[in-house]
Amino acid sequence: MNKISPSLLAADFARLDSELKRITEGGAEWLHLDVMDGVFVPNISFGIPVIQSIRKCCPLYFDLHLMIRDPMPYLKAFADAGADSITFHLESDCDADEVIEAIHALGKKAGISIKPGTAAEEILPLLPKLDLVLVMSVEPGFGGQKFMPNCLDKIRILREAAPGLDISVDGGINAETGRLCTEAGANVLVAGSYVFGSSNPAAAIDSLR
Ligand code: DX5
Ligand code: ZN
Repeated sequence: MNKISPSLLAADFARLDSELKRITEGGAEWLHLDVMDGVFVPNISFGIPVIQSIRKCCPLYFDLHLMIRDPMPYLKAFADAGADSITFHLESDCDADEVIEAIHALGKKAGISIKPGTAAEEILPLLPKLDLVLVMSVEPGFGGQKFMPNCLDKIRILREAAPGLDISVDGGINAETGRLCTEAGANVLVAGSYVFGSSNPAAAIDSLR
């Protein structure tokens, strides 16, 4: 069954507790946490203290998406704050093999993400070491953007190469684009505005599934 990972970026930050209850009661399994540093992407979101605080009131699987220039120095802090999986970008300034090993040494699942301009083939050699790949279907940095269908071929290539891997897609996901992605082979759908922007998140989550 597909997993739904609502992106906290689209929540009302003044009401995080009730926002998290809405999606937990609505049937989400994962919570997608977008960390942005204003350098790797032209936006700044939230960081370690926020993750630490919501860990205390939210039982969901914490699916971290790091959009930061160099993830390595911060991995332990994110693990201690409550991440279950840590996903970083292939395009960031780091040695991907070293970062994957460091995440696993912290006892967490490791994921790698690719931007719309990066080919799926670039991560094929890394797949045996990964728990998850995150295919971006928008340029990372902002919620509420339009889905870019060039992610679909990448999902197909990755699914064929790794039948058992978690393949996640992020950006512009709604019931219609989500269906295209699951048909292509994705099994984790990240959705920000579609879920948190809904007056009935349970119905939005059901429609994605
Ligand atoms: C964008 C983030 C996404 C974003 C998705 O850089 O990685 O997770 O929150 O938002 P929607 O679903 O509104 O496109
Ligand atoms: Zn994201």
